[in-house]
Formats: sequence, C-alpha cells, structure tokens
Amino acid sequence: VQLKRKHEIHFFKLIRNQNLMWTLLRSLLFLLPAELTHELAKFGMKWMSRVLFLHPIALPNPIGLAAGFDKNCEILEFLPALGFGSAEIGTVTPRAQAGNPKPRLFRDSKNKNLFNRMGFNNWGSLEIAKRLREVKPKLPANFIVGVNLGKNKDTPDENAANDYALVAKDFLDTADYFVINVSSPNTPGLRALQTPEKLTSIVEAVKVECEKSSKKIPLWVKLAPELTGETLKAIVLALQSARIDGFVLTNTVAGGFSHRGIEHTGGYSGKILTVTAFERLKEVKSYTSLPVISVGGIFDAKDVHERLKAGASAVQIYTGWVYGGPFLIRKLVRAWKKDQRA
Ligand SMILES: Cc1cc2nc3c(=O)[nH]c(=O)nc-3n(C[C@H](O)[C@H](O)[C@H](O)COP(=O)(O)O)c2cc1C
Repeated sequence: VQLKRKHEIHFFKLIRNQNLMWTLLRSLLFLLPAELTHELAKFGMKWMSRVLFLHPIALPNPIGLAAGFDKNCEILEFLPALGFGSAEIGTVTPRAQAGNPKPRLFRDSKNKNLFNRMGFNNWGSLEIAKRLREVKPKLPANFIVGVNLGKNKDTPDENAANDYALVAKDFLDTADYFVINVSSPNTPGLRALQTPEKLTSIVEAVKVECEKSSKKIPLWVKLAPELTGETLKAIVLALQSARIDGFVLTNTVAGGFSHRGIEHTGGYSGKILTVTAFERLKEVKSYTSLPVISVGGIFDAKDVHERLKAGASAVQIYTGWVYGGPFLIRKLVRAWKKDQRA
C-alpha cells in the first residue's frame, strides 16, 4: 500500500510539473507537420476559450505575441489568460489571399528555430476587422491589440502605399496601434520597400487614413534584421522625420531550407535571431529616442530582462513560445514583475 501511495504522489508531482508535461506533449505534437500543429494549437485555444473562464494576469505587461501567429484574429480571446499583455494580429492584406503552397512552415528543432515561407495567407481586411470588432469587447480593457499591415502579392510596388492605407482604414475603430510591415521575406519585392523614400510615402498614405479617426493611433514600422549600419540609420532618420511612433525590430532573417530534396527560400526565426535582434535594438536606440518593440529569439526571462534593460519599450515572442510551451508567458510575466519590485 505504501508503495502504491508513493507512486501516486510521484504521479501527481509529475502532472504538476508543467515543464515535464509540456516536454511530453511537445514530443507528440512535433511528430506532426509544423503547420498542422499550429492549426491544432489554435483549435485547442479557441475551444478552451469557450469552455473555460481564465483570469488574465498582470495587465498591463510588456510581453506581446508577435505578428503571424494569429493572423486572422482567431484566438485573441485566449491570449490574456496565457499571460500576454498585447498581441499583433496579421499581417493583414486588403484582399484575402491563400499564401504559398504547403508545406511552408518547418521546424529546425535542433537549433530551436522555425523556418517559414507562408506568404501572407490571411482572410483579408474586411473579414478580420469584423472579427476584431466582435472580439474586442470581450478582452480586458488594457489588453493592447496591434494590427500589422501588408500588401497583396499581386499589387504592383508603385501601388503598395495604397494597400497599407486600405487595410488601416478598416481598423480605425479597433486597432490600438498599426505596424507597417515591409520586412517579410516571403512576398516578392516587399523588402525593396525598405528605402527612406518608399517608406516615407507609405507612412504618409497610412497617416491620411489615421487622421480620419477621432483617436490617435500610433504608427510603427517593422524592419528586417539584415538592415544595419548607414542603410539602417538613413531609414530610421527618415522615418523619424515622417513622425512615426516607433520601430518593431526585427522580422525573420532570410535564408534557405532543404526539405525532402527541395530547396525552399523563406525566413528563419528563433535562436538564430537572439543576438542579431538584440544588436538591432541597441543600434536603433543609438540613432533615435523613438521607442522600440524588440522581437526575435526571445526564449526566457533573461532575454526579456536584457531587452528591456537595453531600452526596449516592450518585447514580442513567437518561436520561443512554440518551443517553450503554453505556460512560458505567465512565467516570463512573473519574472518581469519580480524584476520590477527589485
Ligand atoms: C510562421 C511565422 C509567420 C510569421 N508571419 C508574420 C507576419 O505575417 N507578419 C510579420 O510582421 N511577421 C511575421 N512573422 C515574424 C514574427 O512576427 C517575428 O518577427 C519573428 O518570428 C522573430 O521573432 P521570434 O524569434 O520570437 O519568432 C512570422 C513568423 C513565423 C515563424
């Protein structure tokens, strides 16, 4: 009997051990193709948000979900309970688009990276705006929702500014902030918009829309990690003159990935970005006093602490969450709160 009790206690200890539970669940989930796991995780969260009422923790807090995870605003309701203080939905394009053919999301588990070539798959601006209008009243009042703006693949570059403005227009009543995304590697020609002139004209077009709103909607710009030195400085200064409100640094780093003998091009996220994203934060902070949201390769409380200490106004996570599991964000928020008291 004593031996049985001992086993029982051991079992409950195991169940209570969130890390171990996640390690076991992850090893099952990671047997499936990466995008299927992503869809399953979203389904689980949607389902749980309907049947469970979970309290959000420590709002406001500076830890947000990075763009691309909840492109269509499907799981927003569940994020405050997981610990997030904010989320960036999108990238949203004016018209719905399917994105690149699958497979388009891959794990590089050994190095704790993800590789994607999604290509802005999303339900389109009107549909997602409608969804956000329904969800917003159910969120805690101080949970922040950003909308990441993009262009359709078939919009010629000379009309790009209009696409960004079109999406902004649909979210004037719901977005807490906008991000102009010119840094995804998976829409041909998109990164070529990362010049002072082209960015200035996109910012101006979006601002025309923002001015139609009764409230001020902050406008941020998300840049690629490859930009550095004089090129980056020129862009930062031009955007400061165009009076944007801050920078989101960084997007994924472009690269190639070989899968079953096929070579794909796309973007890497995760550990591969930890050092570079941190470097870009410090670099941009040396050029401007505008705020920076630091994103890329954040995996633990130390990463969060370092980015905030180096001047980031907030951080965002994607890949670190995929590897770290559902309990990671609450853990990071607890550490951040402890940090604040210290
Ligand atoms: C599958 C996937 C899809 C993404 N989609 C978008 C997107 O639509 N728009 C965007 O601005 N960034 C997108 N990102 C980039 C992330 O927002 C983030 O900048 C990047 O992954 C670095 O952060 P991480 O290392 O924490 O993942 C995506 C990333 C991944 C892995």
